[in-house]
Amino acid sequence: MKGILLAGGTGSRLYPLTQVTSKQLQPVYDKPMVYYPLTVLMAAGIRDICLITTPQDQARFQTLLGDGSAWGIRLEYRTQERPAGIAEALLIAESFIADSPVALMLGDNIFFAGDAFPKAVSDFQDGATVFAYHVHDPERYGVVEFDDEGRAVSLEEKPSEPKSNFAVPGAYLFDAQVIEKARHVKPSARGELEITDVNKAYLVEGRLRVVRLSRGTAWLDAGTSSSLHEASAYVQTIEKRQGMKLGCPEEAALRRGFLSLEAFEALVAAMPNCEYREYLSDLAAEVRRVGLTAA
Ligand code: G1P
Repeated sequence: MKGILLAGGTGSRLYPLTQVTSKQLQPVYDKPMVYYPLTVLMAAGIRDICLITTPQDQARFQTLLGDGSAWGIRLEYRTQERPAGIAEALLIAESFIADSPVALMLGDNIFFAGDAFPKAVSDFQDGATVFAYHVHDPERYGVVEFDDEGRAVSLEEKPSEPKSNFAVPGAYLFDAQVIEKARHVKPSARGELEITDVNKAYLVEGRLRVVRLSRGTAWLDAGTSSSLHEASAYVQTIEKRQGMKLGCPEEAALRRGFLSLEAFEALVAAMPNCEYREYLSDLAAEVRRVGLTAA
């Protein structure tokens, strides 16, 4: 499976933070925001990734991430001229997708769902898979309604009267037919090509799988100053308690075997002295001692 990471948009709700750099490059505790969804893709074994940014931010993402080879992945860059909707990303990445299944992640979604995402990727056969996450404010999101047997029966984008509390996070798996479906989507009232319309097309065909994320998993939004702060606080709390980092692409690359231990150690040796380097070098030492433990 290939991956698309959508990191466009103006980030206007984070003004003035976003005056000089994009939303997805803002810090979420100890890393740039984009590291988190990128790590979700990598930890699921996805190493061929198309990163979509605004034209003005592309160079900054390239400075941060390069062509991905340092982490054993391949990054291809495309631009979205204006925020014309998530579904437009699929059209921008059309030649990248070609005839492969694809995972689409939003660059501002901080998503810690344990094994749910890697499992959905490895179970994926065709159609589309989305997730459902219980929230207190579903009207802000795509909302999925279930029948008594737990089957998804409707999807609505930002309904004023939501039919359930289950929001659809910005992490989607599609087969290659998604391009055809995205082509048929018409702009919504807010002038965007809505990803919910793409998902609906799969739902009416009976080819949409909805995976409910369990209680205690985290899906955080980082689009406003206070939610950005909360996401940072969450990451800090969990990292401190567990002594393991969240959203660390180098670690995901090592664990998935994208990098050999030697290549990983060379990468760490080139980092400045900092807490991030210390963490990774402790990890390398542990792997030398006992091998890769499940974590
Ligand atoms: C978008 C989608 C929505 C989804 C949300 C997840 O909303 O349209 O269906 O639930 O991302 O973050 P937007 O960020 O465009 O408001």
